[in-house]
Amino acid sequence: MKDTWGREITYLRLSVTELCDLRCRYCMPEEGVCKRAHSDLLTEEEMLMAVRAAARLGIEKVRITGGEPLTKPNILSICRGVAQTPGIRETALTTNAIRLPQTAHALREAGVQRINLSLDTLDPNKYTYITRLGSLSQAMKGIEAALEAGFSKVKINTVLIGGFNDQEVPALADLTRKWPVDVRFIELMPMPGNSGFGPESYIPVDRVLAYLPDAVACREDGVARLYHLPGALGDIGLISPVSQHFCTSCNRIRLTADGKLKPCLHSAEEISLKGQDENGMLESMRQAILHKPRCHDVLSAENRSHAARNMNQIGG
Ligand code: GTP
Ligand code: 5AD
Ligand code: SF4
Repeated sequence: MKDTWGREITYLRLSVTELCDLRCRYCMPEEGVCKRAHSDLLTEEEMLMAVRAAARLGIEKVRITGGEPLTKPNILSICRGVAQTPGIRETALTTNAIRLPQTAHALREAGVQRINLSLDTLDPNKYTYITRLGSLSQAMKGIEAALEAGFSKVKINTVLIGGFNDQEVPALADLTRKWPVDVRFIELMPMPGNSGFGPESYIPVDRVLAYLPDAVACREDGVARLYHLPGALGDIGLISPVSQHFCTSCNRIRLTADGKLKPCLHSAEEISLKGQDENGMLESMRQAILHKPRCHDVLSAENRSHAARNMNQIGG
């Protein structure tokens, strides 16, 4: 359905858990999150009911997110249920890649068509620093597992952080020459709980182009502007939620693991679905779509997101 501002809403981001096996500094606190009571979380049945309601309202694409979705014990069954929902044409998943060696094939068989994964650096020490817990070799094995399993168009997400990984842009971009992947650089978003980054960390993603003199602009793909390097197998994407937000073409709503619909990533407004039947969920979803704001406020290191949550509780 269309929202009040004429935007067709066709994309649901479904966060299935707030928990994660990493602790990325821009995403969640070091101590992790308090596990919520089971009764506060959506059950698998409720998630799939919400997806059916969403499909009845015209949602065609579902991206399963977290926290880390692969830490959820019943993730395969959730993916299968989403992929089999009438009207859902695309089932995708965003992961940190750590558990892909064990799960990539099964995810494909469950009907997941596309995988996006996170990789912020190619330096093992910096990888462990930024994720607080992870090992680069595990993440690289996960990327290879996704490629071997045959997902179409694997995308690597790199959060661009001034003074941390900007010097690595050429090496990260070179992955598009080694593998058939897109590498997308994303501006660091100032979420309520990641205030440890100074103003120098927030750099516009266009800065990437200075490191890639051979990159040729090609097209847009969702929230990313794409560029291509000569001889590369995939594209370079620039995602600019801070310097040039994409509100006018926003086509998405979000559902959190505790059953809150978020009409906008950067707004505190939430509408609860917990405990409703499918028709109730459909009505709530209609309200969420009608409540999508035209735009969110300008973001910067000083003007932080109004989201009442950290990224692991939203799912990106
Ligand atoms: P595709 O299906 O491949 O187009 O994936 P995607 O880019 O929609 O999803 P992904 O989970 O890979 O997200 C990439 C990055 O874009 C993450 O950092 C998200 O937080 C950010 N992002 C996605 N949607 C939005 C949005 O609506 N607003 C803002 N500000 N950022 C977003
Ligand atoms: N700013 C930008 N991107 C973020 N992600 C998580 N937190 C932030 C943030 N504060 C990214 C992750 C993942 C995607 C879903 O969101 O790196 O790739
Ligand atoms: Fe976990 Fe992804 Fe957040 Fe990192 S960005 S802590 S991998 S949910």
